[in-house]
Amino acid sequence: MSTVLITGANRGLGLGLAKAYLEDGCDVVALVRQASPELTGLGCAALDIRECTLTDDWELGAVADSLADRTIDVLINNAGRMAKVEGLARADQLQGFGHFNRELWHDVFDINLFTPMRLAELLVEQVARAERGRIVTLSSMLGSMALNDSGGLYAYRASKAGVNAIMKSMAMDLAEQGVIAIAMHPGWVRTDMGGSKATFDIDTSVRGMQAVIERLSFEDSGKLLSHDGSELPW
Ligand SMILES: NC(=O)c1ccc[n+]([C@@H]2O[C@H](COP(=O)([O-])OP(=O)(O)OC[C@H]3O[C@@H](n4cnc5c(N)ncnc54)[C@H](OP(=O)(O)O)[C@@H]3O)[C@@H](O)[C@H]2O)c1
Repeated sequence: MSTVLITGANRGLGLGLAKAYLEDGCDVVALVRQASPELTGLGCAALDIRECTLTDDWELGAVADSLADRTIDVLINNAGRMAKVEGLARADQLQGFGHFNRELWHDVFDINLFTPMRLAELLVEQVARAERGRIVTLSSMLGSMALNDSGGLYAYRASKAGVNAIMKSMAMDLAEQGVIAIAMHPGWVRTDMGGSKATFDIDTSVRGMQAVIERLSFEDSGKLLSHDGSELPW
């Protein structure tokens, strides 16, 4: 039976992934800062909920130590934030030019970029133990330079471009340990982050991502893949 560790599994895509993997008979470790009623409501023996501050390296280290004997088939770095600033005009709410805020940028980079990096370091042995260990980080097509045709969203785009860069390096650095590393675009999905006008519902995105993750091979390692399996340019 496979074990999947998912960060931010308390709502949105993370919760959808947790539900889907449990339905498929996997063991799920849900790493969240606070468990939601929806997550605890899934309660079953296969679900292991761990609460911790995901941006605190000491707390992440303690969780990793407690999982030292486990095998993790798939580590999914899902938790992330867009950094919306309420009270500004729409384009500026999402970090438009002229609204640089160092503290906000730090918060966005902390969870979108620093946590995936640190968690991969802390859990690589558990992932390497799996027959086909995979590290999947939820990035976004908004982190692609080639696909940026509308500007704006500075902090979010930069954090996702950064996470794309670390996944590319991990693909090379972890190949010898037998670990596949990719960045994944989930599509534009109707969650708190994606909003109600987004293209896909959570189930469509999640089932697509699962299918992509299931068939990952070393040829895919280091790529930015969409939930429909297509490769996106950097
Ligand atoms: N939805 C889309 O259209 C879309 C498109 C491209 C990429 N993505 C990416 O997909 C991932 C999931 O997005 P989503 O749409 O499900 O977003 P969401 O509904 O806003 O959920 C975000 C999740 O991340 C967690 N999180 C955020 N900041 C955190 C922090 N500092 N510490 C711990 N947990 C934190 C949240 O936990 P709390 O409940 O504790 O806040 C929540 O579980 C993100 O990485 C996002 O960038 C989404």
